Amino acid sequence: MVTGSYPATRFRRTKRTDALRRLVRETTLSVDDLIWPVFLREGDDDETPIPSMPGVARLTIDRVVEAAREAYDLGVPAICLFPYIDTSLKTDLCEEAWNPDNLSNRATRAIKDAVPGMAVMTDVALDPYNINGHDGIVRNGVIVNDESVEALVKMAVAQAEAGADILGPSDMMDGRIGAMRTALEAAGHQDTCILSYAAKYASAFYGPFRDAVGASGLLKGDKKTYQMDPGNTDEAMRLIERDLKEGADLVMVKPGMPYLDICRRVAQTFQAPLFAYQVSGEYAMIKGASLNGWIDGDRAMMESLMAFKRAGCDGILTYFAVDAARAMA
Ligand code: PBG
Repeated sequence: MVTGSYPATRFRRTKRTDALRRLVRETTLSVDDLIWPVFLREGDDDETPIPSMPGVARLTIDRVVEAAREAYDLGVPAICLFPYIDTSLKTDLCEEAWNPDNLSNRATRAIKDAVPGMAVMTDVALDPYNINGHDGIVRNGVIVNDESVEALVKMAVAQAEAGADILGPSDMMDGRIGAMRTALEAAGHQDTCILSYAAKYASAFYGPFRDAVGASGLLKGDKKTYQMDPGNTDEAMRLIERDLKEGADLVMVKPGMPYLDICRRVAQTFQAPLFAYQVSGEYAMIKGASLNGWIDGDRAMMESLMAFKRAGCDGILTYFAVDAARAMA
């Protein structure tokens, strides 16, 4: 019996063996696509686990250097640093953010010394240093844009000075990319890359991250006056276009999985390197379900990472970077 378009078209022919499936696979995931975000802490003893991110811990500088070497040996090209700052160093004006010897800058120097080939990315945002938990300076309950940009510029230059290869402004203040680019040129850091968190949404999926950097208890209100409204798409395009014009070398969509449509549209419209951030809440969902035995965690991890590539991303910031690199080794 012949129905439909049999036998000319049988999609099952190319699915029959692993070799055939590999031959016709349209998208590939490689260890080259991964940036590994890590959390830093002071001290010289062991790690502090983060309960809402099972398998992730805050690492001391000694440990992060070892971890970076391990990740780099597995082929992971870049690591991204997020510091947990002691409350005693948090202020209204966030001065610790541009201290040349703050935790993040010391870790950058230590990693660049020990694993010079690995790209170090740093976070340019005030929240870990801000007694108010916001990404900008707060005056009378308002997150003030231009004064925050001035602080962020000082922070960016200090990070470049420490040897960061990629600066990641995750603050969403207006005009910060241009201001940073101008200051970096003036300070002799013309080769420092900027990966702009250009389309960053005000998302519930950042919860575990805020625990990890110790900002959860401090944050008053929300970040909706600077991060994007989840209902918007056109605005993401305008933000990406603006940040590229102001001097960003790479751009990001964040969170990842709930915003794959944005990734797709950005990839089709712009030729710039595009990254997605598979954020803490996405990690926690996959990890939590797999620890409960509800899904196969390893397969869900690889499938979710492949989704970003299929959507058109060039790479992914993911807490799974080392696990995924192991799975691909
Ligand atoms: C803030 C920042 C956040 C993340 C990276 N940088 C959280 C926020 O905007 O509140 C989230 C990353 C994650 O959830 O994994 N500068």
